Amino acid sequence: MQERLMQERLMQGGSMQTDTMQAGTTPRHILVVGGAGYIGSHMVKRLARAGYLPVILDNLTQGRRSAVLSGHLIVGEMADRAALETIFQAFPIAAVMHFASHIEVGESLAAPGKYYENNIGNTIGLLNAMVRHKVLRLIFSSSAAIFGNPVYIPIDEYHPAAPINPYGYSKLVVEQMLADFERAYGLRAICLRYFNAAGADPEGELGECHDPETHLIPLILQAASGRRPALTIYGSDYETPDGTCVRDYVHVQDLCDAHLLALQALLAGAGSARYNLGNGNGYSIVDVIKTAEQLCGHGIAQRQAPRRAGDPAILIADSTLAKKQLHWTPRFGDIATIVKHAWQWEQNHFSAAAMPAPVLPAENDKQDDKQRTTLADTLAANDDLAKDR
Ligand SMILES: NC(=O)c1ccc[n+]([C@@H]2O[C@H](COP(=O)([O-])OP(=O)(O)OC[C@H]3O[C@@H](n4cnc5c(N)ncnc54)[C@H](O)[C@@H]3O)[C@@H](O)[C@H]2O)c1
Repeated sequence: MQERLMQERLMQGGSMQTDTMQAGTTPRHILVVGGAGYIGSHMVKRLARAGYLPVILDNLTQGRRSAVLSGHLIVGEMADRAALETIFQAFPIAAVMHFASHIEVGESLAAPGKYYENNIGNTIGLLNAMVRHKVLRLIFSSSAAIFGNPVYIPIDEYHPAAPINPYGYSKLVVEQMLADFERAYGLRAICLRYFNAAGADPEGELGECHDPETHLIPLILQAASGRRPALTIYGSDYETPDGTCVRDYVHVQDLCDAHLLALQALLAGAGSARYNLGNGNGYSIVDVIKTAEQLCGHGIAQRQAPRRAGDPAILIADSTLAKKQLHWTPRFGDIATIVKHAWQWEQNHFSAAAMPAPVLPAENDKQDDKQRTTLADTLAANDDLAKDR
């Protein structure tokens, strides 16, 4: 019986290694800032399945209301003091997961102020509110971009941090701020440096949907399905085996597992830590295109363009520390599985029946999001609130 339950969980994308909340345990509220975005929305689903009560704060600049499948969604700004006061007073938050940031390397070079303001400035507002309310556990979405051009591969936690773009700097500054907040207030933080987050919910309910999209796998699949005329390859003259950039793709579900393990560690009293999260395998753009072509059974149109500023040639993670200390075991490390789940999402979510071309899904969803919910509306209309407190 126990074995069947375990198998069912695994097939549903669950994990026995992380689903350790026992029957009878008091459920814990977790504030997920940026929980309507790509990775955050998968995390919300994962938290709910593991028995936690997600409270989501997202301003929906990139996120979508429809991506929040569980919990209490509050549409608002991470730095809005009044909103944070209300949330921390209304819910007994046990820990915070912080996914909210601007995420495009290229845009960060063109508009650095936008990145420093949101990724650093607004994070300070969140941290101050956590300190005011004595919520002193945080999991922060950091990035391989803090390392810049690697001086050795694979990149472990001892590798020097030398970002080559404002996006990477913004993540590094937050990591440094967190060390100061720990010294001053005892705020314990686990920084998870994702390499290339990719793939989609194995059950097909969620996936990647940025607007504009800049990530390789969704771009390849948009070209494969005809939603984009061709994939643009930026630079074929890097010092890599086929001249295109090499990256370490890590499945979004595996990232969620790492967050759950980090959360459990913090709840059990673990100290602050920083972990690099990847599979330790590098795939070039050409490798990923070939994998996608095999999967969808036809060629994918491509065009060449010059290199983009701010792109290192190779990024590959050494995740030994996360495996050793968090007992993290990626379950979907194979690039074919990562692309398969993303393709499943592309086909189901953006098929002609689901979403007639050429309307962009993010724009469509944003129509709904215009009917924004105020914090007061959310709390007033929340039937579950009294029950949960
Ligand atoms: N996607 C990747 O490959 C990758 C790699 C490394 C690190 N990361 C980090 O992971 C996190 C999540 O990435 P993602 O791909 O899911 O991005 P995303 O853009 O899909 O999600 C971010 C969410 O945060 C929200 N948000 C942004 N600023 C906000 C603010 N001031 N107040 C409230 N909500 C705000 C957005 O509306 C969005 O829903 C980011 O911090 C990103 O830097 C992502």
